[in-house]
Amino acid sequence: MDEVVIIEEIECENGDGTIAKVTINRPDKLNSLNQDVVRELKKMCKWVEESDSVRCVIITGAKPNAPPEGKRAKPNSFVAGADITEFAGKGSKEIREIFRDNAIEAIWNLSKPTIAMVDGFALGGGCEVACSCDIRIASTRAIFGTPEIKLGLIPGYGGTQRLVHLVGYGRAMEMMMTGNNVSAEDAYRIGLANHLCEPEDLENKTMQIAQTIASKSANTMKVAKKTIRAALDNGITEGVEIEAIAFADLFDTEDQEIGVQAFLNRSEPEWKHR
Ligand code: COA
Repeated sequence: MDEVVIIEEIECENGDGTIAKVTINRPDKLNSLNQDVVRELKKMCKWVEESDSVRCVIITGAKPNAPPEGKRAKPNSFVAGADITEFAGKGSKEIREIFRDNAIEAIWNLSKPTIAMVDGFALGGGCEVACSCDIRIASTRAIFGTPEIKLGLIPGYGGTQRLVHLVGYGRAMEMMMTGNNVSAEDAYRIGLANHLCEPEDLENKTMQIAQTIASKSANTMKVAKKTIRAALDNGITEGVEIEAIAFADLFDTEDQEIGVQAFLNRSEPEWKHR
């Protein structure tokens, strides 16, 4: 059986560390999230957190398989949602157990930077996977949406909360109340996608951004992510205090010395990641 989540480690251009490309691999089911995928994504998060080499994570969906003779090809998908077949016949007790401590929360809680590379459908749980990443890069054939309302449901992987932060209350409300799809162009316009590019450029564009992020000090990156996150959980006064502490603490790190000296010497910093 094919692995439902494939991890490739790609060397960083500066020879220091790797970028983990994580592909959700159920293209015949539009990469929908069944329990096997969820379990493997959680394992992936644990591995990323423990890895000394991974500097940045890209999450994407597998491309469609070639169709059998006479059949139409399946559409391109990032992830077309939770696997709806696993919902049938379940009650709140089982669902609470399945959704407790879930993989999307594990992605959100990664201390390392994450990028969603979205080509095709990012619906329901797929939109939520994308929203749990720090950055979203979309191809022009990406389609975002939160269609749960059409199933008599609401998003269950943190979508109600994270979408509001990304696109604002009114737009998030419209998406979740109508269940309508959002085109790639509109996703870009409302800030759901950071970048929009042609499908053939998507991998390059994503890798460029991942390489730029991965070339920085891993330690400083962790501090940056944690501090920026504080803006979501705190009021501005408390957030600015958190920043002041984090900023000053960085002056006791080796990488701050290295970064500042490299600038003064007009050389490239060689991070110690400490
Ligand atoms: N869960 C389980 N299976 C799914 C799925 C999901 N979320 N989304 C797609 N699939 C399966 C289909 O059942 C189909 O399987 P089959 O070929 O074995 O019958 C296969 O993936 C291809 O999907 P299909 O519906 O035939 O493709 P399409 O091009 O006609 O339509 C979508 C594409 C995305 C519009 C449609 O698949 C869809 O609406 N999916 C559900 C989206 C959703 O509601 N997600 C939120 C879940 S909470």
